Amino acid sequence: MHPRKIIIDTDPGQDDAVAILLALASPEDVEVLGITCVAGNVPLPLTTKNARIVCELAGRPDMPVYAGCDRPLDRDLVTAEHVHGKTGLDGPSLPDPVMPLAQGHAVDFIIDQLRTYAPGTITLCPLGPLTNIATALQKAPDIAARIAKIVLMGGGYFEGGNITPTAEFNIYVDPQAADIVFKCGAPIVVMPLDVTHKALVTAERNNAFRALGTPAGIAVAQMTDFFERFDKEKYGSNGAPLHDPCVTAYMIRPDLFTGRHINVEIETQSELTMGMTVADWWGVTDRAPNATFMGAIDADGFFTLLTERLARL
Ligand code: RIB
Ligand code: CA
Repeated sequence: MHPRKIIIDTDPGQDDAVAILLALASPEDVEVLGITCVAGNVPLPLTTKNARIVCELAGRPDMPVYAGCDRPLDRDLVTAEHVHGKTGLDGPSLPDPVMPLAQGHAVDFIIDQLRTYAPGTITLCPLGPLTNIATALQKAPDIAARIAKIVLMGGGYFEGGNITPTAEFNIYVDPQAADIVFKCGAPIVVMPLDVTHKALVTAERNNAFRALGTPAGIAVAQMTDFFERFDKEKYGSNGAPLHDPCVTAYMIRPDLFTGRHINVEIETQSELTMGMTVADWWGVTDRAPNATFMGAIDADGFFTLLTERLARL
C-alpha cells in the first residue's frame, strides 16, 4: 500500500532536516500529512523556524508545520546547541521562512489526523524528544489503537548513550514521554545509536551530496560540514552519524535495516541512568517484546538511496 501516510515529529537539527528532505523527495513512498515540531536540539521557536526553512528548501511551502510542546513533560528542557549550533541548523546560510506556521497545536493535529483516517493508516515518525507523541496519547488514549506504527530515532544498547554514558539525547530529554510511548501498545520500530552510528557521512559521501550541485544537495553537504565536527572529535569517527534519516529511509526501504523484536523499557527513576533504553537484546527477562530494535544497516544502500532522492529536489 503506497504511499504510506506519515506525520514527522521533529526538532530540526541538521539530521532532522535531511530526514525531512528524504521524505519530501519520495512522494511515491510516503505522503507527509504534516510536520509537528517539538523542543529538543534547540528551543521550539527555532525548531518551528527550521522545519519551515527545510520545507521551503524542498519546494514545499504548502506543507503544514505545527508548533508543539516547548518543554518536556516533567523535566527542564535540555538542548544541544553544542552539536547543532545556536540556530540548530548551522552550516548553510538559508533564507528565513516565508510560509506561516499552521494554525493549532501539533498535539491536536496528531490526534485529529489519527481519528480522521482509518485505524492502521498513519505512521508516526518521531525524530526528537517524544513529548508531543506522549501528550497526544495522554489527551486521547483512543489513538494508540489507531496508530499503524511508530518509527522513531532514539535510544541505544551496544552503543550506550551520547548525552550521558547510558542515554541517547531524544530519550534523555523526555524520559517520561518515552516511557508512555513505549508502553502505549502501538507497534514500534526503533532506530537506536547502534544503527545510526553506522550511517556515517564520510567525506566521499558528503562530496556526492555536494556534487548534486542543487540548493538541497549543497545545503545538506554544508549542514554535514558543520554537524560532523562534534562526532568526529568525540568518537574519532570518519564522518557524522545521520541519525534521523534512518527513520524516513526505513519508510522507503525497510530492507536496509535488520533488528530484533524485543522488550525495551525506559529508565525514569535513577538520575545516574535516566533515559536509558533498557533493551533486552539477549532475551534474559520474561518482559514482553514491545519494539523492533534495529541493530544493522546497509550503509551503502542507505547513502545510495539518500543521494538519489536528494537529487530530485
Ligand atoms: O541523539 C541523536 C538525536 O538527537 C537526533 O534525533 C538528533 O537530531 C537529536 O534530536
Ligand atoms: Ca532530531
